[in-house]
Amino acid sequence: MIPENFLWGGATAANQYEGAYDEDGKGLSIADVERGSIHGVKRIIDDSIQENVFYPSHEATDFYHHYKEDIALFAQMGFKCYRMSIAWSRIFPNGDDEEPNEAGLQFYDDVFDELHKYHIEPVVTLHHYEMPLNLVHKYGAWRNRKLVDLAVRYAKVVFERYKHKVKYWMTFNEGNSLLISPRPWHQAGIIYQDDENEADVKLQASHNQLVASALTVIEGHKINPDFKIGCMLLYPLTYAYTCKPYDQVLTRNKMLRTYYWGDVQVRGYYTNTCRSFQKSIHGHFTMEDGDEEILRKGTVDFIGFSYYFSQVESDEPLMELVGNVAKGGRNPHLEITQWGWQIDPIGLRVSLNNLYDRYQKPLFIVENGMGAIDVLEEDGTVHDDYRIEYLRKHLKAMKDAIEIDEVDLMGYTMWGCTDLVSAGTGEIRKRYGFIYVDKDDEGNGTRKRIKKDSFYWYKKLIETSGELLEKENA
Ligand code: BG6
Repeated sequence: MIPENFLWGGATAANQYEGAYDEDGKGLSIADVERGSIHGVKRIIDDSIQENVFYPSHEATDFYHHYKEDIALFAQMGFKCYRMSIAWSRIFPNGDDEEPNEAGLQFYDDVFDELHKYHIEPVVTLHHYEMPLNLVHKYGAWRNRKLVDLAVRYAKVVFERYKHKVKYWMTFNEGNSLLISPRPWHQAGIIYQDDENEADVKLQASHNQLVASALTVIEGHKINPDFKIGCMLLYPLTYAYTCKPYDQVLTRNKMLRTYYWGDVQVRGYYTNTCRSFQKSIHGHFTMEDGDEEILRKGTVDFIGFSYYFSQVESDEPLMELVGNVAKGGRNPHLEITQWGWQIDPIGLRVSLNNLYDRYQKPLFIVENGMGAIDVLEEDGTVHDDYRIEYLRKHLKAMKDAIEIDEVDLMGYTMWGCTDLVSAGTGEIRKRYGFIYVDKDDEGNGTRKRIKKDSFYWYKKLIETSGELLEKENA
């Protein structure tokens, strides 16, 4: 049985959902100067806001002004938890301000109060692809060790403020994406300069963030020993394409970038896996005195991770699969979504087992879901049976991992529970939600919230603690 206290819910991120990018004292973030492109063309990053340019994320789907309505809908579905992020630039508009912005702090107070009204537990990410833009211009973003102090100060301010309202926290969203993505702008505010060695920058920025993450855990536990503070890994499960022995080595190598972050955050030191990765990219970085102790003491309480698809690896030529961050080979046994992401429910069970076997710490699936084009019918309904099918299979695989494999899993939050702006392509038409938001990629629409068929399905699933999955065609 899925445990009674299982945290069923949904997930979003501030920069993709809140909108209100310049309201109530919020400063500009790196996400605010990234232009969404229509139809999945690579996004453009500006130095500052450009006139006469449309930035979809500036209003996004406007949680900022609809949070009461949206939370009421989450409550109707029976959410036990809601994963969201705090925008650092709402709290410290420039990242290095003397004082925090009271209006920003108040906004999240209001959101947490609203959630508690319905007994929904907030699960809060501190850094979800968003940091004050000033920190890029003034310090060179996460290349610079100075950011450790600033990030820890931000964490301490929000921990103190919400210590009685939030118990579950995560430090960096998909921290390991910094090592995986060719565009570390999202995760670390970095655009490689011509005169720098990319491998060194990657490792140094990672180290700075890993130290910041560990210090955040240490400080958080001092402020409230009951806090549960996790990491959040991108988990691009990789299979060997053939049974050739060398394909197994390549497959392991592909996963090094993920376990690099996992090993440091969970085990508290750079393991042989990490050193293997450092050698493979010929990168170097500097540690300060005391860092090793910080990493050892600041290990996480649980492992949050995102799972969207699996990929294959081989020394043979492969058809390419491109996600928003990870790139790999296509698996001929799997179908793909409209955005070319492979659909592999069993891969979720495999991932849960891999992570639990390796770390023996509670896991939390904090992102999983399917981006699709939904059609709003004239009668105001949205029939997203493909999404129900996707979720049904993934959640059945999750249930098997809990019940048969005895993986310790805390909860499941479906990504983009209300439609929002895609991180990878900046589109709204790539919809994930149980709740449709009437807005298009040109900014037209009423912003009305509409329940999709999956809304009713998820509600029933939570009501039955997942037992619905045992019924045929449930
Ligand atoms: C994850 C990110 O990688 O994937 C989310 O943490 C993102 O921010 C999600 O939205 C889905 O990706 P995309 O590109 O379809 O929005």
